[in-house]
Amino acid sequence: MSKPLEGIKIIDFTHVQAGPACTQLLAWFGADVIKVERPGSGDVTRNQLRDIPDADALYFTMLNSNKRSLTLDTKTPEGKEVLEKLVKESDVLVENFAPGALDRMGFTWERLNELNPKLIVASVKGFSDGHHYDDLKVYENVAQCAGGAASTTGFWDGPPTVSAAALGDSNTGMHLAIGILTALIGRGQTGRGQKVAVSMQDSVINLCRVKLRDQQRLDRVGYLEEYPQYPHGEFSDVVPRGGNAGGGGQPGWVLKCKGWETDPNAYIYFTIQGHAWEPICRALGKPEWISDPNYATAQARQPHIFDIFATIEAWLADKTKYEAVDILRKFDIPCAPVLSMKEIANDPSLRASGTIVEVPHKERGSYLTVGSPIKFSGLKPEITGSPLLGEHTDEILSELGYSKDQIANLHAARSV
Ligand code: COA
Repeated sequence: MSKPLEGIKIIDFTHVQAGPACTQLLAWFGADVIKVERPGSGDVTRNQLRDIPDADALYFTMLNSNKRSLTLDTKTPEGKEVLEKLVKESDVLVENFAPGALDRMGFTWERLNELNPKLIVASVKGFSDGHHYDDLKVYENVAQCAGGAASTTGFWDGPPTVSAAALGDSNTGMHLAIGILTALIGRGQTGRGQKVAVSMQDSVINLCRVKLRDQQRLDRVGYLEEYPQYPHGEFSDVVPRGGNAGGGGQPGWVLKCKGWETDPNAYIYFTIQGHAWEPICRALGKPEWISDPNYATAQARQPHIFDIFATIEAWLADKTKYEAVDILRKFDIPCAPVLSMKEIANDPSLRASGTIVEVPHKERGSYLTVGSPIKFSGLKPEITGSPLLGEHTDEILSELGYSKDQIANLHAARSV
């Protein structure tokens, strides 16, 4: 099966999570992704949170599959020369260094564009260019706080809360991948590369758009009827934290199932979709609610939505989360069990679809990682293990035209 990005060469000058998530995605779809790493140390995640001594950490392996690794000290004259050759032969350079690092290395946009006018230069930064915080170094949770996610996540009586989902890192990487693919199509039309920049703050804001919707509704009417604060609690002038409330006009909540006292994930998410009210009443054995004026419409239900949830929890008390979902699915009710990472790791459907895959690694043995969440009819991405530090250095240098002796000299000078 041919891979659509075959023939696209990417200099992967990324580290940690945001950049590597982007280039890993492009590698799955066929791009030749060359991860450029500092000799001796490499991407810092190779060493972070190790579970096996002396073997690359899962933090690294799960973000760098399907890539090749080239060690290169781009601050030495010889290293710069190698990078220049690579730039001339590549389609895309992706980086997520701290602001100004690439310029300090001597590879400004102007210089890169001069070396290869067709090159697309793609960057992740914490804040966008010109923003009053554009000099800041940024990690995941900083972005979640600056992007509106933390102030709107959690419970109203607790502090701002960050999500476990990598809204600042991997999400930004996905935005950048879309930018790169767009620029590649653009290059097909103009013949020229361009700069593509995505900030982590902006990417979080893009996912928090419904909260910006809510801010404007709150400004206009003073309340938000789908939030738990309505109608009995107080609203201030900012969007409050809404706990587990559904954010899109369908009330919902995380509800306890059998075993919740000992199992922290014995819960389902239950959604009360407006037109599913009748099947919900039938499923719960409450047919009298169907025509009761206190329950019949979404507006009538909202003032006592938590009494309704309590009734559903009483119904759930003797059912496991899986049994409950098996009953509710017959009534076409949008719901799902709360799954632990252990359950996800062992889920046969996720293995069969290739969303969770087991891949070999030279030092670790096999490990679990994520496969493509995007499914194609004409492409089945094949996920391979991550490269060892510098595993492909000699191979890549010889592709660039370096002789065996020249490669040996580069090693001796510690430039690769
Ligand atoms: N050869 C020589 N030098 C190299 C190199 C190589 N192959 N690769 C990196 N370096 C140098 C850089 O040029 C930089 O040098 P400088 O400070 O003298 O300019 C240095 O290594 C450190 O890079 P930096 O990006 O500052 O790393 P850091 O560990 O201090 O900061 C981040 C890490 C993530 C906070 C920072 O890179 C950042 O804010 N990135 C943008 C936002 C982002 O992507 N954050 C999310 C990460 S998941």
